[in-house]
Amino acid sequence: MVVEHRFTVAFAVLTWAICLEAKSVFAPPMERSIGDSIHGIGPQVTTGCPEVVYVNSTDGFIYTPSFPSFYPNNVMCEYVIQGPDNGTVQIDFFVLSVENCCDFVAVYDGPTTDDSALIKRFSGKITNSTSTLRTTKSNSMTIVFTSDENVNEQGFYAVFSVSSTWPTTPADQTKVEENLTSPFGALVSPNFPGEYPANADAKYLIGNGTAGTVVQITTEFFSTEGCCDKVYIYDDKTANDDNLLIVLSGDSPVVGYTYTSSNPYLYIEFSTDNNDEQQGFSFMYKIIADPANAAAAATTEVGTAENLHPIQTNTNFKALQKLWGIFA
Ligand SMILES: *[C@@H]1O[C@H](CO)[C@@H](O)[C@H](O)[C@H]1NC(C)=O
Ligand SMILES: *[C@@H]1O[C@H](CO)[C@@H](O)[C@H](O)[C@H]1NC(C)=O
Ligand SMILES: *[C@@H]1O[C@H](CO)[C@@H](O)[C@H](O)[C@H]1NC(C)=O
Ligand SMILES: *[C@@H]1O[C@H](CO)[C@@H](O)[C@H](O)[C@H]1NC(C)=O
Ligand SMILES: *[C@@H]1O[C@H](CO)[C@@H](O)[C@H](O)[C@H]1NC(C)=O
Repeated sequence: MVVEHRFTVAFAVLTWAICLEAKSVFAPPMERSIGDSIHGIGPQVTTGCPEVVYVNSTDGFIYTPSFPSFYPNNVMCEYVIQGPDNGTVQIDFFVLSVENCCDFVAVYDGPTTDDSALIKRFSGKITNSTSTLRTTKSNSMTIVFTSDENVNEQGFYAVFSVSSTWPTTPADQTKVEENLTSPFGALVSPNFPGEYPANADAKYLIGNGTAGTVVQITTEFFSTEGCCDKVYIYDDKTANDDNLLIVLSGDSPVVGYTYTSSNPYLYIEFSTDNNDEQQGFSFMYKIIADPANAAAAATTEVGTAENLHPIQTNTNFKALQKLWGIFA
């Protein structure tokens, strides 16, 4: 059994971006000019931004120039996140703060900036803890950030993930059962990013059964009622005390933690009681054919169940500060 967690998720994301087999499933090049640098992804090193950046990894971060410091004036940054054929792209904005009137973050469904494909245009601040957007018509997403000639703020910090298939939404959100067998994807609690329902019981079996594979999940967002709404993660196909890897609950600062199975399946159960519904969780998962790579990607300290879920408030910021710590 391997229990790994890390604050240095960015390193893993970069490693995955390099080593994952995902490249082979990406669509052929689109008709656009390609940014020749990856500024704005990973540790921030620039104060400008290229015209267009293609983001071809299965998950990762994007953020405005200089983040977490303020962005510069008069910039236009365009990020195109390319998912696999017939796949979808999801983005979670954890921080978004731009001049309310004149600086914008616009998100489009597809490799386009046509108004008809606009999913959402932000100006000002996201006041909720996170805002999640997904593509529905296309396997790529375009994010455009523009600033005018004055007033700077922090900009945005977002996590994206692409999915080769998107789980269908069951009609009854209190009884969710999903088998996730695609090479990678996202796993979110019922109704996410809205509140999960009371008295819910959701079951997710991840893995395709191929001998030698392991399943790895990374927590992107987590918020549940501390006492009573819990996520149980099992290192095998079934819920069995012997296989229990960890129990997550509470407003826990577990963003960026990774858990890896020791066999081809990981089984997750989420059960909630009859009150205090919260936003729940957003995880990314991968089925890894070569566990040696997974171990190499996750060269991190080993955690115990006890130190993984101290209850804190405002955890997005705390977790992000830990992530930023590695950039500082
Ligand atoms: C990213 O995808 C684009 C479009 O598919 C491609 O042209 C580009 O070479 C890719 N970049 C990297 C770094 O793989
Ligand atoms: C994508 O969908 C089309 C139409 O349904 C299908 O012909 C094609 O094989 C699919 N591609 C992949 C990679 O699944
Ligand atoms: C998921 O897989 C398990 C074990 O293979 C099977 O028993 C179950 O019926 C499947 N559930 C769904 C919704 O496909
Ligand atoms: C299971 O997933 C691994 C990793 O993506 C892949 O190499 C393997 O071919 C898959 N097996 C099946 C039966 O799809
Ligand atoms: C914040 O989230 C709640 C619950 O999802 C929603 O009802 C509300 O409209 C959101 N507020 C803003 C400002 O987006």
